[in-house]
Amino acid sequence: MMLKVTDVGKTYGEFTALKNINLEVKDGEFLAIMGPSGSGKSTLINILGLLDQSYTGEYLLENKNYQAVNDNELSQIRGDQLGFVFQNFKLLSTYTVYENIEVPLIYRADCKK
Ligand SMILES: Nc1ncnc2c1ncn2[C@@H]1O[C@H](COP(=O)(O)OP(=O)(O)OP(=O)(O)O)[C@@H](O)[C@H]1O
Ligand SMILES: [Mg+2]
Repeated sequence: MMLKVTDVGKTYGEFTALKNINLEVKDGEFLAIMGPSGSGKSTLINILGLLDQSYTGEYLLENKNYQAVNDNELSQIRGDQLGFVFQNFKLLSTYTVYENIEVPLIYRADCKK
């Protein structure tokens, strides 16, 4: 199983953004998460993309739990296994398109040292 999400929940203070999320994604499967603004899509994608480790329940990526993994190891996994197209653009305005594309590749090479 590529992704396995079991009873995942997320609160911001008193506010419950995610509750009882369960889903599985097998290798080669495509999944679209849809919902109105504020329904928690970005909150969930941050957890799935290993950007947020403060949630309840269990999330396994390729059968591994990353909730207690340090940021260096997370950076490596994110560099190797995960790709994001951000809703609000994260391009560096002083770089060319080519240089922007190089940025994650440079980090990836660094991680492997
Ligand atoms: N850092 C935060 N602190 C407090 N509340 C937050 C925070 N981030 C998100 N929320 C709240 O959690 C809920 C889910 O937000 P989220 O950004 O995940 O929604 P979304 O489905 O991605 O919306 P959109 O389609 O507008 O991108 C919203 O009510 C939002 O106000
Ligand atoms: Mg969003």
